[in-house]
Amino acid sequence: AVDISKLRDMSGVITLDPGYKNSGSCKSEITFLDGELGILRYRGYSIEELAEKSHFLEVSYLIIFGELPSVERLEQFENDIRKFTIVSEEMKIILDGFPRTAHPMGVLSSLTSALTAFNPKSVDADNEKEMYDAVCKTIAKFLVIATWTYRKSMGYPLNYYDNTIGYVENFMSLMFKLPNGPYSANPIVIDALDKLFILHADHEQNCSTSTVRMVGSSHAGLFASISAGVSALWGPLHGGANQAVLEMLEEIHATGGDADKYLAKAKDKNDPFRLMGFGHRVYKNFDPRAKIIKKAADEVLATLGVNDPILEIAKKLEASALEDEYFKSRNLYPNVDFYSGIIYRALGIPTDMFTVLFAIGRLPGWIAQWKEMRENKEPIGRPRQIYTGYPLREYVKS
Ligand code: ACO
Repeated sequence: AVDISKLRDMSGVITLDPGYKNSGSCKSEITFLDGELGILRYRGYSIEELAEKSHFLEVSYLIIFGELPSVERLEQFENDIRKFTIVSEEMKIILDGFPRTAHPMGVLSSLTSALTAFNPKSVDADNEKEMYDAVCKTIAKFLVIATWTYRKSMGYPLNYYDNTIGYVENFMSLMFKLPNGPYSANPIVIDALDKLFILHADHEQNCSTSTVRMVGSSHAGLFASISAGVSALWGPLHGGANQAVLEMLEEIHATGGDADKYLAKAKDKNDPFRLMGFGHRVYKNFDPRAKIIKKAADEVLATLGVNDPILEIAKKLEASALEDEYFKSRNLYPNVDFYSGIIYRALGIPTDMFTVLFAIGRLPGWIAQWKEMRENKEPIGRPRQIYTGYPLREYVKS
């Protein structure tokens, strides 16, 4: 007979850590983050330096392949991405099925998953060529379908990738180009977007990235894993916060600009409202990305000649929160989402596309983490639980 008490012993000790606040799930060489000192580095390079001197596809290459590319290597990478920018016409039929009112993140997650139907072969992460092609393919097609979610919501004809211009310029052209018209993007807008994409490119084991690794750990494909990451990012406690911040600031503005009223609401424990764009699981001093973005918001608005009262409200809210005992004692500081929406708004990006922009920026991080997880041959992710339900009950037919 089986000795149940022995089996129990064999199952070992379970560590209960809801929200994984203190649990590491993997070893990683990609991103270094020190929450106390406010340090963020990709592959050893400081985020400040990369945002200042590099550009998005170069940083994407660095994050995914581990080293900064030479000029020739980078050019080749950009050309290889261009080879995959065509998205099957049949994807349009899937897109057509969505109502125009659908949130772009829901549509993006579905379309990313649908890409598996057109690329059914699972990528062998140990095969360098296959993995490289999968990286280029994902970076190319994700941008196109991400912008299609906007064109669909507006009822506009879809645009196609223009192989004569750069990746970030293509984002603007895919979004806003008129039929048959050329699109010439404002270089200030392109620079600002490029910087924002760099700042979002990876952030170690956050909710969406852990989701990508977890889904991929069952050997589900890259598109399927990234589609799950998009869904995780959508939530207002994660990437969806950039949309929520702007809606909150607009509401404060529309109701007379009383920031302190919202601060009081956020402190009221009987009110579920939280100050969106404030607080972070890991940064308990400041978010280094928020610092760069705040400065960029000032610069971009000044250069574009935009005078946005929302920026003033944001600054007032931040100043009051930084002086407030509730926020100080809990180490709640502005995070990456607090000022990014103000820049997106100044660049003419519609509010419900903000989180899609976050996803475009985060894509290289998701790919790199998926690749690393598969190359390291990590086991399937499968946490345990502490069961708190009924003991054995007898079934009685009613
Ligand atoms: N407004 C008011 N109070 C807050 C806020 C906030 N934005 N954030 C945290 N708190 C309070 C909590 O109520 C809690 O108070 P208590 O100790 O009295 O119970 C304390 O601070 C700790 O908060 P937790 O929820 O335990 O912190 P956690 O690390 O789990 O959550 C999170 C971090 C989700 C980011 C949280 O700060 C939050 O909800 N912020 C607003 C949403 C947001 O901006 N999300 C974007 C994060 S960045 C990103 O994902 C890209």
